[in-house]
Amino acid sequence: MVLGSGGREHALAWKLAREDHAVFCAPGNAGTAVLPRARNLPLDPDDPAAVVAAARETGTELVAVGPEAPLVAGVADALRAAGVPCFGPGASPARLESSKAFARGFMERHGIPCARTARFSGPGAGTELERFVAANPGRLVLKKSGLAAGKGVLESDDPAELLAFGRSVLAADELLAEEFLEGFELSVFGVSDGSDFAILPAARDHKKAFEGDSGPNTGGMGAVAPEFRADAALMARVRAELVEPTFSAMAKEGLAYRGVVFFGVMVTASGPKLLEYNVRFGDPETQSLLPILPDGFGELLRGAAEGRLEPALVRAFEARPDRYACGFVVAAPGYPGPYPKDLAVRSLPETQNSPGLLFHASTTRDADGILHTGGGRCFAAVGLGADSARARENGLALAAAVDFDGARFRRDIGA
Ligand code: AMP
Ligand code: GLY
Repeated sequence: MVLGSGGREHALAWKLAREDHAVFCAPGNAGTAVLPRARNLPLDPDDPAAVVAAARETGTELVAVGPEAPLVAGVADALRAAGVPCFGPGASPARLESSKAFARGFMERHGIPCARTARFSGPGAGTELERFVAANPGRLVLKKSGLAAGKGVLESDDPAELLAFGRSVLAADELLAEEFLEGFELSVFGVSDGSDFAILPAARDHKKAFEGDSGPNTGGMGAVAPEFRADAALMARVRAELVEPTFSAMAKEGLAYRGVVFFGVMVTASGPKLLEYNVRFGDPETQSLLPILPDGFGELLRGAAEGRLEPALVRAFEARPDRYACGFVVAAPGYPGPYPKDLAVRSLPETQNSPGLLFHASTTRDADGILHTGGGRCFAAVGLGADSARARENGLALAAAVDFDGARFRRDIGA
């Protein structure tokens, strides 16, 4: 059973179904509704009791949690208490994602390389922030500590803009102010069974809304996998300096879990540094990564959830893939600002015979059979190829054939 309704969950369900597993998508979307060997289950994935009941009723052998919200709500704890294997952490380790303040404290306690960070909260925080911004001219990164779907981060060198954003965050949450790290980003996924782990090939997301990495941050506008700059030497550093220290620190603090740790990494001139942890797979990275991974993904998730990752599978999943993927997110007009929902989709690309895949996010089909968009990021069009240029061309062609009012994508993903 795959929990969630986004593009990441469509990709998870697609991969598992392709490996001949019967899959329930809870609740899934209009794309998963027509996947062979998959079935949608109408269900609130954030409701632990409802998920446990559905898993029992269906005889589900493994639950893979897509988004962070069910994890933070304790769905994985409830499933494990009911004896259902679950891929995903309990609510306590999920704080590594749901509280950036907690995660920064964890990195600092264990000497894991990250940006210098100042924290602000409580009465007087606005004045302190004002002093901090005045004392640190130049580019700063401000972050809301709690969950914000990729939109709680502002990079700016304009004191007025920083203060306005900072004050709006402080009205409801803790605020972090970080030094701006220069470099390129990697998304690194460490699948863990609670003691052993496998590092999947690194992907690269494109977080900014517009071409040339301009505009506001989004949840991600497209992803390539594998990222060509993540060669063996760099991945060895990422493993030794970020991944291994994290898993051993998690064990020390009683935060080890069965699921995936997503390391948001900035590769700087002085080496890789951690931007953040997530306790789930990335969206849209998953849509690009899963199509180039070997068979056995279901066994990898099951092994992790049952505390027995097999070394042979770990080796297979750590190998560099021989194919490339380039995924373009097709977004609703206005995203990541306010955007219209329920737009009628006039046509979608044919993927039957094309070297690529189209994943839906939160789409629905009405009684007349008309497909409608759901959220701000509506589809991921993923091109595949033997080299990155071919993958990109194939993805571009698919994305261009998605037709609804105001459909928009960044043409420079993977360029
Ligand atoms: P986060 O949610 O912490 O990963 O931040 C979202 C995005 O903001 C990241 O993927 C980066 O593109 C950018 N970002 C976050 N922190 C920094 C930083 N300290 N320096 C530069 N860019 C950052
Ligand atoms: N693509 C970034 C994320 O899933 O958080």
